[in-house]
Amino acid sequence: MTGTPAAVLALTVTTLVALLGAAAPVAAQGPPSSPLRLAEAHDVNPDPGIVEIELTARTARVAVTPGLVIEAWTYDGGLPGPLIRARVGNRLIVHFKNQLPQPTTVHWHGVRVPIAMDGVPGVSQAAVAPGGEFTYDFVVPDAGLFWYHPHVMSAAQVGFGLTGALVVEDPAEEIPVAADRVIVLSDIAVQEDGTLEPPDSGGDAGTVFGREGQVVLVNGQVNPSLTMRAGSVERWRFVNTAKSRYFQLVMDGQLFTIIGVDGGLMASPAEGDTLVIAAGERMDVLVAPTGSPGGQLVLRALPFNRGYGSSEFRAVDDLLTIQFTPEPALPRQPLAKTSRAIEPLSADGATRIDLELTLVTVDGKSEFQVNGAPDWKAKPIPATVGETQLWTVTNKVQWSHPMHLHGFFFQVVDEAGRPIAPLAWKDTLDVPLNETRRFLVKFDDREGEWMYHCHILDHADAGLMGRVRLGNPPPSPFGSHQEHTPTGSGR
Ligand code: C2O
Ligand code: CU
Repeated sequence: MTGTPAAVLALTVTTLVALLGAAAPVAAQGPPSSPLRLAEAHDVNPDPGIVEIELTARTARVAVTPGLVIEAWTYDGGLPGPLIRARVGNRLIVHFKNQLPQPTTVHWHGVRVPIAMDGVPGVSQAAVAPGGEFTYDFVVPDAGLFWYHPHVMSAAQVGFGLTGALVVEDPAEEIPVAADRVIVLSDIAVQEDGTLEPPDSGGDAGTVFGREGQVVLVNGQVNPSLTMRAGSVERWRFVNTAKSRYFQLVMDGQLFTIIGVDGGLMASPAEGDTLVIAAGERMDVLVAPTGSPGGQLVLRALPFNRGYGSSEFRAVDDLLTIQFTPEPALPRQPLAKTSRAIEPLSADGATRIDLELTLVTVDGKSEFQVNGAPDWKAKPIPATVGETQLWTVTNKVQWSHPMHLHGFFFQVVDEAGRPIAPLAWKDTLDVPLNETRRFLVKFDDREGEWMYHCHILDHADAGLMGRVRLGNPPPSPFGSHQEHTPTGSGR
């Protein structure tokens, strides 16, 4: 039980149930409420090469289900924020305004931006003060599903609702489907009086566990519905924007054909009847759900064990109800064969970077460490332009950690350093409890300090974070990076 404080193992069932929100009085389940929808950002620039939008962070009252109206932290008043659509190579200009009561920033998760656009206060930019503005302006170099969220007190701000999706299309990769949908998975913690739970609820145990909201949302709605003809082929692109929760998806034994992950299409598809999407990850799938005309099928999330107590006392969540039209089911058809040429990275000559993740108690408080230091004491990992590194991440903690690297994609490799098939680009990788995962990353010439951290944001807050110092960036004019949620703060 290395690194696991006895206090945490001594969590009572009552505490766990409270942490999980299982005892919460809010009705999070029910019949399908509304059709699946997702607000889209409005491009004000007529130039086809430029997507230019306004984005305002502000609090807003949002109805997540009839009878459950909450005051959330939003982008443009919606939960999640508006879907931003761009084409690969477009320039994206975002006029961002902060109307929240706290400073914030926007981080573009997975997008290979220049460091000045990475949204990390103290490293990339100064935090945008309440009433302040900042213009994000960068090229989107890769096709895929990305997402945006704050990088200031992230556990609190993401937990209050600040997330949104960015889809970057490559016209050369078009796949014939009946519908192409972006599906944003999240959760939110609501108290009995309808207000949001404080970000420090459950104290130290809550942090170590990773707080989950008991209301599970699909495009901001509780169990929305979508209508389709049985047997028709759809493309569903999932992003898990929850601050701690993993989603283990099943659809009554129906198959998912995974065609892409974080960094776009994989070299070839993979099939399965279950999808596990850790916090921060994306999954791009083809589905051809079938059933009786006029009938229904439910996409469900099964409890997933991401560590001590995270799958016990849990319920199955109905995420999305598929309503079949009365038309006869289409015969099973072969799905489009997607493929993508991905050059495998080579471990030959790669610099070895070994990271050991632990959990210790310092002055009565739990602290996550990477190689013996929490983020605020850690030395950056040095990297040079053009260098390839082989990262070996060993998780000695009783909880899984979805590790995210800013600014770069990597290839997951086996013990011998060979990329695992099908080849794919990732930016977030689940390192299960007591296991080791490895990846190869090749750094380009975007010098700067790039964060890496656990995307269970409470873990990042409690130290599970560090940075790569690529090249010789000039000292940041923005002071030091502060990420932490001051105790008792929030609203
Ligand atoms: Cu979505 Cu620092 O990450
Ligand atoms: Cu973690």
